[in-house]
Amino acid sequence: MTAARNENQLDHVAIIMDGNGRWAKARGLPRIEGHRRGGDTVRTVLDACNEFGIRYLTLFAFSSENWKRPADEVGSLMNLLVRFLTRETSALVRRGVRLHAIGQWRDLPPKARAALERAMAHTAHCDERHLTLALSYGSRQEAASAARAYAEAVLRGEEKPEECSWERFSRYLDTRDLPDPDLIIRTSGESRLSNFLMLQGAYSELYFSPVPWPEFGREHLLEAVNCFKRRERRYGLTGEQLHEKAAVVS
Ligand code: FPP
Repeated sequence: MTAARNENQLDHVAIIMDGNGRWAKARGLPRIEGHRRGGDTVRTVLDACNEFGIRYLTLFAFSSENWKRPADEVGSLMNLLVRFLTRETSALVRRGVRLHAIGQWRDLPPKARAALERAMAHTAHCDERHLTLALSYGSRQEAASAARAYAEAVLRGEEKPEECSWERFSRYLDTRDLPDPDLIIRTSGESRLSNFLMLQGAYSELYFSPVPWPEFGREHLLEAVNCFKRRERRYGLTGEQLHEKAAVVS
């Protein structure tokens, strides 16, 4: 990504969908009810991205660390994923949305993995928009796997250590086919990245919403989009240099 591109163009939004459990607890409901409502929000946000012309949406659906949660919560999250994929795949195809997965998603239970593979295969021809689910994903794990794959390519003589640059190395990341996120949103009032797209988010704008994910709606996404449009993305340049460049580009 370079400064020559229109800096306020919003192609890729990535979201840390947080607050499902607290939302449910505050209502005396089981945590899984918060996740279920969070699944409904996924649909709402997908529609809003379509409306706002956002071509790439990446969702942190299950982290590498989430395996440590109680087994029944992990099982329920996997069931929700299967249900979402089963119900939504034809709608994704109708809207031209291609589904991708990043992370160690091959470690998911067989039913979830099969549903994911099926949905990715069914949407493989779509290229208007892209929905990426981060599943069993962690940035540090992704970086370690990429380093290993790069080292193996060196051993095969396909790469040279002295030619290792971000551009070459990033081809070994799970996100090699995706642009970097322009905007990373985290819901429910927490201000952390929690091992999500740490390398890809080097120049992303960050937006922290107090709204818990089950209540996050079109208007909240619009608020984040409008806030993003007011930001000045300098990529290390001065404000003056940036304005000169913008004048050349336009
Ligand atoms: C974080 O909330 C959320 C998750 C660990 C899971 C996100 C999953 C969904 C929204 C369900 C469905 C997803 C898809 C793609 C169908 P939390 O449980 O950590 O909330 P808390 O911090 O309030 O406890």
